[in-house]
Amino acid sequence: MSQSSHQKPHALLFAYPLQGHVIPFVNLAIKLASNGFIITFINTQSIHQQISKAGRLNINDVEGHDLFSGAQKLGLDIRDVTIYDGFSVDFDRSLYHDVYFETIMNDFGFHVDELVGKLVLSNPSPNILIADTFYVWSSTISKKYNLVNVSFWTEPALVFSVYYHLDLLRQNGHYDCIDNKPKDIIDYIPGVKAIKPTDLPSYIQSNDTNMVVNRLINRAFIEVKNAEIIICNTVQELEPEIIAALQQNQPVYAIGPILSPGFINTSVSTSLWSESDCTDWLDARPHGSVLYVSFGSYAHTSKETIAEIAHGLMVSEVNFIWVLRPDIVSSEEADFLPIGYEDLIKDRGLIVSWCCQTAVISHPAVGAFLTHCGWNSILESIWCSVPFICFPLLTDQFTNRKLVVDDWKIGINLFDKGLISRDEVAEKVKFLMRGKEAEQMKQQMKKIKNELEDAVAINGSSQVNLTKFMDDLTSKIQKKDVLAVELKQSNHIAK
Ligand SMILES: *[C@@H]1O[C@H](CO)[C@@H](O)[C@H](O)[C@H]1NC(C)=O
Ligand SMILES: *[C@@H]1O[C@H](CO)[C@@H](O)[C@H](O)[C@H]1NC(C)=O
Ligand SMILES: *[C@@H]1O[C@H](CO)[C@@H](O)[C@H](O)[C@H]1NC(C)=O
Ligand SMILES: *[C@@H]1O[C@H](CO)[C@@H](O)[C@H](O)[C@H]1NC(C)=O
Ligand SMILES: *[C@@H]1O[C@H](CO)[C@@H](O)[C@H](O)[C@H]1NC(C)=O
Repeated sequence: MSQSSHQKPHALLFAYPLQGHVIPFVNLAIKLASNGFIITFINTQSIHQQISKAGRLNINDVEGHDLFSGAQKLGLDIRDVTIYDGFSVDFDRSLYHDVYFETIMNDFGFHVDELVGKLVLSNPSPNILIADTFYVWSSTISKKYNLVNVSFWTEPALVFSVYYHLDLLRQNGHYDCIDNKPKDIIDYIPGVKAIKPTDLPSYIQSNDTNMVVNRLINRAFIEVKNAEIIICNTVQELEPEIIAALQQNQPVYAIGPILSPGFINTSVSTSLWSESDCTDWLDARPHGSVLYVSFGSYAHTSKETIAEIAHGLMVSEVNFIWVLRPDIVSSEEADFLPIGYEDLIKDRGLIVSWCCQTAVISHPAVGAFLTHCGWNSILESIWCSVPFICFPLLTDQFTNRKLVVDDWKIGINLFDKGLISRDEVAEKVKFLMRGKEAEQMKQQMKKIKNELEDAVAINGSSQVNLTKFMDDLTSKIQKKDVLAVELKQSNHIAK
């Protein structure tokens, strides 16, 4: 028996350098490590530093700080490794988004190649590579180092399916063509009954398909067609036809929702910004009386939009917590709230620059979530049975809105026609927080929440799929080991 055939599964995890991707990657790492996997978790130096700083560590400690020490104390073998992404840690990646992601697309793979080349020489050497689907090099680098190639999709299967079938959208005049047909219903994507062009991810709706993210998606979805396994942070029962259609092409496992085991009390911190503790404020408010407002970690919005929402919240008279990142308009625009707003709302509203979202939405005082429709936010909020007011801004958020409002009926739109207005904001907020019809939505929420809960319970679809996924990895590793040994022997004989 060769030594290698006894090897434990050891996976390299490459998280995409954005908050919404780091969170499910860390939760996946914990899940796999809890099942006996060795994990080497690779963050960019910049993400590593930002998370370390956000945890209010002494700046001097940041460099050598191990993000996974909490998990290691629980007996999990998760190793913390960083990688250079092409820029110094203090480069403003939010302000220079396109420059940054151009480099991630074109050059980051070289750094990955170099790092993986070193890691395969370590002991125990890795045998699996799990990379975010947005990376354009995952299958190629896996092949070079004889690693099982796994692609992790952190968004719904519907969005995956749209990107997977860009060629169909092109052929039918819905992407990358002059005679764009914005009014049709799209009904030719396998497994997708019907979707409006306005519900496609923002990049697909855009006329300028030469933008960096468009080119990146194009390449990433060529690359993913070579993946041995695709795992997806969704639930089979929520998107059954879409997942079934994708499985015709490649093994796709729905293993979501991949949440932190403690939900709130995490052993590993993932926040890129310092969190304000909202507990005392929430404790002092009646049950279901607070609207939680957050536009997530990535998208920006205009000062005018913030003003309309600010006035709408004012007029609605509900309590609210509003997360406004310092760069919500731009890193260069610090004064985005109407003058004197915070004095005006007094103790009815709490404005913070970041918070522990799971702690807030699981608090009984919270009654609804005005959200940008990021996928983590949606999964977390369903988990807490908190319904949505949807305000998509960018990327998959438009498509996620469709799932929430049109398909699952657990949320409403912030505005239905034309431009956002303070009156409509107030009206929608009052409707969801106080309206009788909101009762019906609560019933539907119960149903969807149960589907999530059932999926991750013993014998639930996600739990069963996760086990199958891990078994699959183990048997693929063994096959590769046998092949490697045979190859060695035949080389030996040839000599
Ligand atoms: C990833 O693995 C699959 C299955 O073994 C293989 O067909 C594919 O070629 C691999 N991808 C690359 C780029 O090597
Ligand atoms: C796309 O181009 C068409 C025709 O030039 C124009 O009418 C439309 O407003 C553009 N859409 C966007 C989102 O820029
Ligand atoms: C989280 O941890 C804190 C401190 O250890 C504890 O007081 C609190 O009860 C925990 N909360 C949950 C929901 O487990
Ligand atoms: C799970 O499924 C197995 C095999 O079908 C069965 O023996 C077991 O009782 C089930 N467990 C639960 C908790 O349903
Ligand atoms: C995941 O679980 C569902 C429900 O049990 C099943 O239909 C599906 O085939 C599983 N997926 C894979 C890839 O085995």
